[in-house]
Amino acid sequence: MKFGVIGAGQMGGGIAQVAAQSGFDVTVQDVQQEYLDRGRTVIEKSLTKLHEKGRLDAAPAEVLGRIQFTTHMQDFADCDLVVEAIVENQAVKNALFEQLGGIVKPEGILASNTSSIPITALASASGRPERFIGMHFMNPVPLMALVEVIRGHATSDETAQFVTQTAEKMGKTPLTCNDFPGFVSNRILMPMLNEAIQCVMEGVAEPEAIDGIMKLGMNHPMGPLTLADFIGLDTCLSIMEVLHTGLGDDKYRPSPLLRKMVQAGLLGRKSGEGFYKY
Ligand code: CAA
Ligand code: NAD
Repeated sequence: MKFGVIGAGQMGGGIAQVAAQSGFDVTVQDVQQEYLDRGRTVIEKSLTKLHEKGRLDAAPAEVLGRIQFTTHMQDFADCDLVVEAIVENQAVKNALFEQLGGIVKPEGILASNTSSIPITALASASGRPERFIGMHFMNPVPLMALVEVIRGHATSDETAQFVTQTAEKMGKTPLTCNDFPGFVSNRILMPMLNEAIQCVMEGVAEPEAIDGIMKLGMNHPMGPLTLADFIGLDTCLSIMEVLHTGLGDDKYRPSPLLRKMVQAGLLGRKSGEGFYKY
């Protein structure tokens, strides 16, 4: 199977890695060679770590050898499945899928790793709504078991079945839901992260205390502010905006502190600073 990934960032890189670990031929595309080089380095480090821990039988170089890095979208022409993992912005994703729909062979399936944006709208932009689906991996992709599969209004049973089976071949557990803003995962997770940010803004406690209380008190593996930094505060804000606009209720209003931090370029781990310094 020929597996395409658009975006070599933290999610695209992880998806490409796990697809290659599963034996697929993978093509990853990004807009600049430096982003591809950075993604390749992250994948190589992750493969080496997994191999050292005995969680990867194949040699890292062999797995890496299955991934082709490119800046050309045309290289997706003969892919059976292409998963998009670019910035969480509906206009940017719509433009990409309009283009991609004219490149990938007609029987190819297109999927979005979007965290929150309506799958049905992206499917329309692609021009092949029955062969379009949400395939939502969790971060960090090599370690997390879930793939949330989101069916758009016109997604065919064959497409859903193919993507479900592909997720299983990747060693993941696919769970299906319908197309609502934020799906299940982020409709429930993101308001909690937003509330933790609101607690910082209102001076309820210091970030370390908020994270500690949720880690030790609720047995969460990461505190909500550490997790928000890990996801990316820009992505968190985009998701909250989709929830707020799409569901209408003010309980989904992004915290003003979240908005301010994104405006200041404090995006979390990826920019070197968010609630913590990296
Ligand atoms: N590849 C390989 N190894 C990795 C890795 C990766 N991508 N990322 C981390 N590791 C390694 C670490 O380097 C560490 O190695 P050492 O033991 O050698 O130091 C090891 O994995 C595990 O580290 P820890 O012992 O600190 O942690 P852990 O094993 O208990 O769990 C974790 C790590 C799975 C990431 C855990 O902290 C966790 O589950 N965090 C929450 C993650 C989460 O909630 N993800 C969902 C985010 S929301 C989302 O993805 C959806 C969205 O749309 C926003
Ligand atoms: P990121 O910023 O780490 O990476 C995005 C990559 O896409 C960058 O390398 C960028 O250069 C590239 N890109 C942007 N526009 C492009 C285009 N037109 N063509 C090709 N490449 C392009 O972002 P990320 O955290 O990997 O998130 C990507 C997507 O995955 C978003 O939709 C996000 O909501 C979703 N997601 C994120 C997480 C998370 O925890 N960060 C989890 C699940 C899903």
